[in-house]
Formats: sequence, structure tokens, C-alpha cells
Amino acid sequence: MKNSYTKKEQYYGDYLGLDKILNAQFPESEARGVDAHDEMLFIIIHQAYELWFKQIMHELDSILELFGQEEINDNSSTLQVATHRTNRIVEIWKLLVSQVTVLETMTPMDFLDFRDLLAPASGFQSFQFRKLEAKIGLKMKSRHEACYYQYQLRKEDIKGITELEGEDSLLDLMDKWLKRIPFWNNEFWQDFEVPEGASTDLHPFWATYRHIYQSGLIGAELKSIDMSDFDSLFFGKGGVSTRLSPESCQTALFITLYRDNPLFQVPFQFLSKWLEIDELMASWRYRHMSMVRRMIGMRIGTGGSSGANYLKGAMEKHHIFSDFTRLTTYLIPRAKLPELPVALKEKMRFVDL
Ligand code: HEM
Repeated sequence: MKNSYTKKEQYYGDYLGLDKILNAQFPESEARGVDAHDEMLFIIIHQAYELWFKQIMHELDSILELFGQEEINDNSSTLQVATHRTNRIVEIWKLLVSQVTVLETMTPMDFLDFRDLLAPASGFQSFQFRKLEAKIGLKMKSRHEACYYQYQLRKEDIKGITELEGEDSLLDLMDKWLKRIPFWNNEFWQDFEVPEGASTDLHPFWATYRHIYQSGLIGAELKSIDMSDFDSLFFGKGGVSTRLSPESCQTALFITLYRDNPLFQVPFQFLSKWLEIDELMASWRYRHMSMVRRMIGMRIGTGGSSGANYLKGAMEKHHIFSDFTRLTTYLIPRAKLPELPVALKEKMRFVDL
């Protein structure tokens, strides 16, 4: 990019392109001479959402670029910058969730004044929203009612979304990053003592951890928690299907367990913030669905889906980071955490892993 600081006098409205933005509201009701006061609010709120989606995309693209690097030094500014920008996305999503209340000042009758004029357009067709989901890691095959996309979206938009699936999503890049962190190198664990009764064919830390975890199960958990799920998640032995590799699940759990160590602070923040975004997106889906239920009851959407029922399914199915949330099942109390080997602690203090 060319760097030019030659002085150029700016004028507020020109700098912000207000001429374009403020003249981009075209209520259909106005064009057709229908009285529908609230259509302006409906248009502006969608545009405001789209502008914020653009900002989220800007942050997300930069995070993808940072994570696309071959090496990420966990104590370098890379991870801190990514975490800082992730936090901005968190704050934007909070705003987007609360913004639903503004739309809720429109009553169902106000909406009916212009609803039929906008069909078959629908937020379902928001290309930016679909791109965000795909870039974070949602796959077409995992989308609720994937068949809707074929007839609701323009061909070029479907192509754009499926092309994105060919690139590394944030979830893929996180997986690569977590896999690369070399906590499990033998040099750190040579003197680590494995308790009696623990498995002998696992890495010493995991043999110990599995043993402590299993011995800590009480009451009904003894029946409800199946250790073969543990083995499947962390060692790839078994049928639980996950997007994250077993090595990444190990590292993510390890970071969570030992997050009080300075080196883990930023990676822990980064992971937690993305879980928060997953949750905030689900909160938005819930608020949107409740608002839709109130607005149109059990009618179908302008885009032709089953309306609130479709939205409920998407809300339940479109979590992207469920592998990370599943890890919580396998936490143990701090007091029971195995003491880490000195060699690893040293390495963690000197941070150049
Ligand atoms: C009166 C207000 C609204 C109503 C009644 C409404 C209704 C619906 C319905 C019924 C759907 C399902 C697809 C369909 O059949 O059309 C949908 C999807 C969607 N709407 Fe809205 N919506 C409203 C406002 C908004 C706003 C302000 C946004 C902000 C961008 C938005 C974004 C979306 C998105 C992203 C989807 C796809 C959700 C998914 O597939 O998970 N909607 N909407």
C-alpha cells in the first residue's frame, strides 16, 4: 500500500461518505404510496447491522492473517494483537444483541404495513453474515436446513460461501496453532512421576490426568460420564467426532488448567473470547428468534423458511466452538492439578516455546 501523508483538507461529510450512506434508504412503501412509517427504522437497523458486520469482518480478516503465519510465538505481539481485536468483536456483538430492543419498538401491526413489500428478501440472504459464519468455521453441511440456501441465495453468493470453505477458517487455524505448541516434548517429562494404577501407554501427563479425573468422579457422574468419550476426545480412540484434533484438545485443556501461568494468560484470553463470541452469536440468534416470534407468530418468513422454527434450529445447530465447550466436562479442581515438571516451567517462564 502506498504511504502518503501529503496534506489534504477533509470535510466531515465527504470523509465519511455521508452523501452515499444517508441517501441509501429507499422504503418500498414510499415508492408505492403506501403508509408505513416504520419501514425507515427497518431499513436503517439492517444497514446498521451490516456496517457492524463489515467492521467485524475487518477484524476477523486481520486475525486470520495473523494466524495464517507459519509460526506464532505465544509471547509475541501477534497473539496479543489478535486477542485485542477479538475483544473488539466481543464488544460489537454485545451491541448487536442489545440493538434488537430498538427494533422491538415496532409492533407486529406496524410491520404488517410493509412486510409483503419486501418478500422474498430476508436477512437470511445477508452475505456478510454468511461469510462471517464461514470464516469462523461453519460448514455448509452443518448448516440447519442447508437446502434453503439453494433457493434463497443468489448463485454467486452460494459460490462465494462455498469457496470460503476451501480456505482455512479460524477454527482450522486455531487447530494448527494449538497442535504446534510443543508442551508434550519428551525432554520436559522425563522425571515426571505417574501415579500407581494410571495407564502406561499414554503420555505421562495424560496418564496422570486421566487417573485423577476418573478417581474424582462421584455419584451419578460415575454412570453418566463415559471415559471412552475422554479417550476419543484427547487421544482419538473412539467414535466421538470432533472438528479439533486430539492434540489440540489436549493443548486447549492444558492452557485452561494452567492459565495462571503468565505464558498461558494471552492464549487463554484468546480462546475464552472466541467462546464468548460463539455464545453472543447464539444470544443474538435467540433475541432475533423471540422478536420474530412476536412479530410474525407462526407465519413463514419473507424468505420462505418456516420462520421462528427455522431460526430455533439454526440457533441450536450453528455453534462453531462446541469442541472447546465440551472440554469443560474434563476440568478438575486446581488443588488436584499435577505439579508441572521444572523443565517445562522454566521453558514457560522464558516463554520462547
Ligand atoms: C421485523 C424484523 C425481522 C423479522 C420479522 C425477521 C424475520 C426473519 C426470518 C423469518 C428469518 C428466517 C428466514 C426467512 O424465512 O426469512 C430471518 C433470518 C435472518 N434474519 Fe431476520 N428478521 C427481522 C430483522 C432482522 C434484522 C434487523 C437483522 C439484522 C441483520 C436480521 C438478520 C437475519 C439473519 C442474519 C437471518 C439468518 C439467520 C440464520 O440463518 O441463522 N433480521 N429473519
